[in-house]
Amino acid sequence: MQKATYKLLNHIEDTVIYNDVLPYMKAKYQDGFATLVIPDVVAVDLNRRQGCLKLYEGATFNETWGHEDGGSRIDLDTANLMINMVSDLSIIGTPIVEDIFLRGGISLDTIAFDLSRWKESLNSGDRQQRLARRFDPSEIEQLQQIHIAGERLFSNGDFYIRNVVRQEQKAVLVDWNYFKGFRCCYIDYRVNILAFAYIHMWGNTQWQSRLRALALERFGISEIEFANAAVIKAVEQYLFLTNNTDICDMFCNAMVRTVKETLAIFRERPEPGCEA
Ligand SMILES: Nc1ncnc2c1ncn2[C@@H]1O[C@H](COP(=O)(O)OP(=O)(O)O)[C@@H](O)[C@H]1O
Ligand SMILES: [Mg+2]
Repeated sequence: MQKATYKLLNHIEDTVIYNDVLPYMKAKYQDGFATLVIPDVVAVDLNRRQGCLKLYEGATFNETWGHEDGGSRIDLDTANLMINMVSDLSIIGTPIVEDIFLRGGISLDTIAFDLSRWKESLNSGDRQQRLARRFDPSEIEQLQQIHIAGERLFSNGDFYIRNVVRQEQKAVLVDWNYFKGFRCCYIDYRVNILAFAYIHMWGNTQWQSRLRALALERFGISEIEFANAAVIKAVEQYLFLTNNTDICDMFCNAMVRTVKETLAIFRERPEPGCEA
């Protein structure tokens, strides 16, 4: 029997991912990928609400990435690996994915990042309060000027090194479960997906510099566009961490630092706001 790893299908979005999206993506796009491996779905058990992925052999990063070290020990060349995976994700047509979700009865609002809804969400009571704990009113106001543009891609949302299983030149992307909100979205701007991988490596500035340089070079993203996306994803990661009981102060503080330092750079620019 094939070795498998199972995850609970807690949301209808998970069921659609395991039943429809992953098998479809694998069949249609896998042969065209240079690096990315979409995992095989071995079984879906709706009674037990379980989805089983094939268990892949390869290098994992659970020992080298932790909340308290931000990936300080992770090899620089994995930044190239992440970039190559994003190149492969760029082949997938987002309208096809959106269509599968819509046919599964899922509103695109739940799975796709939307900038104006993100800005509105920052004013909702609970999130507003948590932001106010660490950020000045002027910084919170600056978030309303964030700009985002470019292509949108389909991914697992939770796109960072721990969800990769590396096999020589290939990389399996695992952990496809649904997260509500703006932190992990199945459809998101390419620059946001890259920024998500970037902020998780807060303990490895060399890795971050390499990823950012490659993102600019390979995808024609500007420094300001990248910085805007890093602010969005660091804010979301901060809000996520402060909503959890096992908050890691070091990770949380690193996200606050990322946001504050980037917003300060925007303030020093001659043009107002954060327009790309
Ligand atoms: N299909 C798989 N094949 C091989 N390793 C896997 C697979 N799925 C997950 N893993 C490994 O197990 C770890 C935890 O699984 P994951 O699905 O990411 O759960 P979570 O992040 O919610 O704990 C991953 O970081 C990865 O190293
Ligand atoms: Mg994971």
